[in-house]
Amino acid sequence: MTSPIPSFPHSLIHPFIHPPIPSFPHSRIHPSTHSNEPILSSYLPAIFDSARDARERAITVTNVNLADSFARHLAWTSDNPIGLEVVGAVGPTLRLSDGSELIDLISGIAVSSLGHCHPEVVEVVREQVGRHMHVMVYGELIQTPQVRFAERLASVLPDKLSTVYFTMTGTEANEGALKLARKHTGRSKFVSFDRSYHGDTMGSLSVTGRDVYRRPFEPLVPGVSFLPYNDAVALDSIDESIAAVIIEPVQGEGGIRVPSTEFMQALRHRCDETGSLLIFDEIQTGFGRTGRLFAFEHFGVVPDIITFAKAMGGGMPLGAFVSSGRVFDSFRRDPPLSHVTTFGGHPVSCAAALKTLEILIRDDLSDRANRIGEHIRGRLDHPLIVEIRGLGAMLGLVLASDHATEKVVRYCLDGGVLLGWTLHSNNLIRIAPPLTIPFDTLDHALDVILRGLQAIG
Ligand SMILES: Cc1ncc(COP(=O)(O)O)c(C=O)c1O
Repeated sequence: MTSPIPSFPHSLIHPFIHPPIPSFPHSRIHPSTHSNEPILSSYLPAIFDSARDARERAITVTNVNLADSFARHLAWTSDNPIGLEVVGAVGPTLRLSDGSELIDLISGIAVSSLGHCHPEVVEVVREQVGRHMHVMVYGELIQTPQVRFAERLASVLPDKLSTVYFTMTGTEANEGALKLARKHTGRSKFVSFDRSYHGDTMGSLSVTGRDVYRRPFEPLVPGVSFLPYNDAVALDSIDESIAAVIIEPVQGEGGIRVPSTEFMQALRHRCDETGSLLIFDEIQTGFGRTGRLFAFEHFGVVPDIITFAKAMGGGMPLGAFVSSGRVFDSFRRDPPLSHVTTFGGHPVSCAAALKTLEILIRDDLSDRANRIGEHIRGRLDHPLIVEIRGLGAMLGLVLASDHATEKVVRYCLDGGVLLGWTLHSNNLIRIAPPLTIPFDTLDHALDVILRGLQAIG
């Protein structure tokens, strides 16, 4: 006998809506299974030698076995992970297991623009979890959070960017954009730019402009050529065989490089001449980071397809590629379902993204990004800083050498400030604080950076 389909009595849902904010009881960390095994720090030839003390403190104070399990069971992406144990994150601050705190000046790499665990975002996440989580692959059922967020996103984009395809991540958004360009144009080739970064899956990696990351995974998608970034003359090589040109309107991993308006407009013009679609990868620049809601607004150029992820979900995983209904028509047929995703547009992520976008607009955080950027530029005056590049609160400090950069980042980590590099640029320190960071917290972090510069200078 089949049981009746349950209704969703509010009494069942309510307890999920406003539970008390959890503390982080260490007892919930898995109990020991390898207590006699070496701890994490002895596995690591840690690059942050001077941070080793902090790491060991963290491991001793809480739970050696968590670090040990990290070393054994998590796939490492480098030989020297920082390895600090995060137990909480609120606003601009990460809480570590030893009770110390780090000011996050990179926002989980341009994700936590509202700060970590913004209470209004947390609340809508709880509400949506109480209604439903995953129900069906993206694009089949009508799910209120997806529809409402797509509608709101379209309302802040130019008319021709009206149709949204949701993904989970940035690289998946770029994969979709590249496939859409091929399907719509019937062409196969792509143009990208030196020092670009578009993600690590095969298609996105194929259009990423740095050999050292591409070569180990070749053969990649054929028919990709790379042009120098910000060189209008080179655009002549874009011709009628090109399905799409993909570009970051400010290069992030390439070293926070800002192109000229002339270059961006020439690129738009050349794509119009050749019928190639112009894809803007705004995965890092989007949602207020550069001082406008979207970076394309700086250049007066509208792309044919735009890709998002990172800050869009307010800390939840969500990506998207957005274009016109006309361009998306090609995705419906020949064959139908030729591009689908199970988790893209997860309703909990979409609910978080809608609230995030509302807060960004309501609190004018794009403007705050500009004020943060100006403040940082005004305060970071030091002979070791060769240049400060970027727009809004997406900044790169160029130092005289890779060595100086590494030492300052290390000094700051010890001093409670989390900074980072960019993938393709070793002499540059990335600064991308939450757009909600209080100015006194920012000042405190900048004091630490200045002391770091002083210490090595
Ligand atoms: C410009 C740009 N595109 C794509 C990606 C890839 O995004 P994800 O890591 O979500 O796949 C990134 C990530 O850093 C990025 O900065």
